[in-house]
Amino acid sequence: MTSELEREVARRRTFAIISHPDAGKTTLTEKLLLYGGAIHLAGSVKARRARRHATSDWMELEKERGISVTSSVLQFEYRNHAVNLLDTPGHQDFSEDTYRTLSAADSAVMLIDAAKGVEPQTKKLFQVCRMRAIPIFTFVNKLDRYGRAPLDLMDELEQVLGIRAYPMNWPIGMGPEFRGVYDRGARVVHVFSSGGTHGEAEVGERSLPLDGPEISEVLTPAELAQLREDVELLDVGGDAFSREKSDRGQITPMFFGSAMTNFGVRPFLDVFLDLAPLPAPRDTDKGPQPPTADRFSGFVFKIQANMDPAHRDRIAFVRVVSGRYVKGMNAHHVRLGKSVRLANPSQFMAAERTAIEEAWPGDVIGLFDPGLYRIGDTLVEGEPFRFDGVPRFSPEHFAVVRSKDPLRRKQVEKGLEQLSEEGTIQIFQQLQMGMRDPIVGVVGALQFEVLQYRIEHEYGAAIALDRLPYAHARWVTGEQFDPKTFDWEGNRQTVQDRDGLPLVLFRDDWALQHAQEKHPELKFLAEAPQLQQGKQASAERAAGGTP
Ligand code: G4P
Repeated sequence: MTSELEREVARRRTFAIISHPDAGKTTLTEKLLLYGGAIHLAGSVKARRARRHATSDWMELEKERGISVTSSVLQFEYRNHAVNLLDTPGHQDFSEDTYRTLSAADSAVMLIDAAKGVEPQTKKLFQVCRMRAIPIFTFVNKLDRYGRAPLDLMDELEQVLGIRAYPMNWPIGMGPEFRGVYDRGARVVHVFSSGGTHGEAEVGERSLPLDGPEISEVLTPAELAQLREDVELLDVGGDAFSREKSDRGQITPMFFGSAMTNFGVRPFLDVFLDLAPLPAPRDTDKGPQPPTADRFSGFVFKIQANMDPAHRDRIAFVRVVSGRYVKGMNAHHVRLGKSVRLANPSQFMAAERTAIEEAWPGDVIGLFDPGLYRIGDTLVEGEPFRFDGVPRFSPEHFAVVRSKDPLRRKQVEKGLEQLSEEGTIQIFQQLQMGMRDPIVGVVGALQFEVLQYRIEHEYGAAIALDRLPYAHARWVTGEQFDPKTFDWEGNRQTVQDRDGLPLVLFRDDWALQHAQEKHPELKFLAEAPQLQQGKQASAERAAGGTP
């Protein structure tokens, strides 16, 4: 007999959408919620439009969005699945958070604009998913407009991302002639009829077997001939679908549709939920932890400051890995070596925050954080272990931070420390004599504005940021590494992260490549090497943190 825990694990799907701004992520998210019955759309589409006009002022942005966009973990029910959609901040607030969210997801949906194909931000996010080897599903959007030919797009995925696509369905027509999609597995055609210009309601749909007599009632002879030709080409010329390769992220199941008009949203959701993986076991220093293990465990993957700057408390987002979470329970905070009460959890249902009583593997809980948590922290019931850390990613923009008022230096330091714990910025120490001011590194340049704004408003200190000409940071490992090798030289500089690990900052691809060629004995890593437990404690002591 299956236990409640096993049943809850089996019905959970936790995923994130990765895309370049404007591909339609917000629209698709709304439509998934519409089909999940979680929202009524009329108002929310409008709210989104208003929001789009204010993308640079971070605080304003937060106010307008409430908590729903940057921190959102949306949960909805669909066909007896409990679906958790983790939102990855895109647009200008693209940051390390975007990457880190992927560490909490079991699969990703890569959203592509049919007219634009693979764009830069999609490529970066794809690479992060690839590193984790999670299944990646592709949704080609905006078929209601003329875009690139589907075969071209398949080819582009292979050329640019190095992944073969397997079309699970195939579009019938494009632009104003986009009529529906053909489901290759079921050999069924879904023909849609519009439910409104922005798809405020679920779309009308008729599903007919391709080989049945009624098909000619819904498709014109020309549409039917084209579809049959396409289907034959795919069936004869393409690979067979391999579930195993899809599970390992080696091929990407591909779908076509239009989030705006809802065409193809339901067929996508149905097949996606069948193929998407359940919550996976996670590696720890004591071996893998399966989701069905009885005791509760989870890790912090994101920390968000309170919306109200007068309060310094934050919300720590915890991905539940195993067992059952019950409101107010105690768990072992492994890094601090003490038991903590998991207080004020909340779950994020559409735009509302509601207190939750329990949560299961794959779910995300938001804990009240008075400064207890750091990204990567493990919480576990009973005998402690540590989950492999949440990776820190290499920033791409750098600046030296100076306090404008020397008397407020302490406040600046405190602010920097807290923002680095939240993961908004990374702090590096310069190693050269006389260079005392820290360097901050960020993944998206908007984080500099956020940093300046928040240090000023929350810590009452004005700072100056002197931008540095570096574009890459690499953690360096290797027996023979001597930080002096890469002393400041104009196009590179050695620094130290907060765990005392050395990195070199490089001006451009050329400087990085040059160093790699000259020093084959060293490894230059874009992701921070994982600290061993003992090493982490001593590095933290060395860095002046809590052991
Ligand atoms: P994002 O979150 O990925 O940045 O994209 P978002 O959903 O905000 O969509 C970006 C633009 O693309 C919006 O247009 C949106 O309506 C449009 N869009 C999304 N999906 C589709 C689709 O399937 N077909 C077509 N034709 N357009 C789509 P906008 O003009 O910027 O805003 P709005 O006035 O339409 O809200």
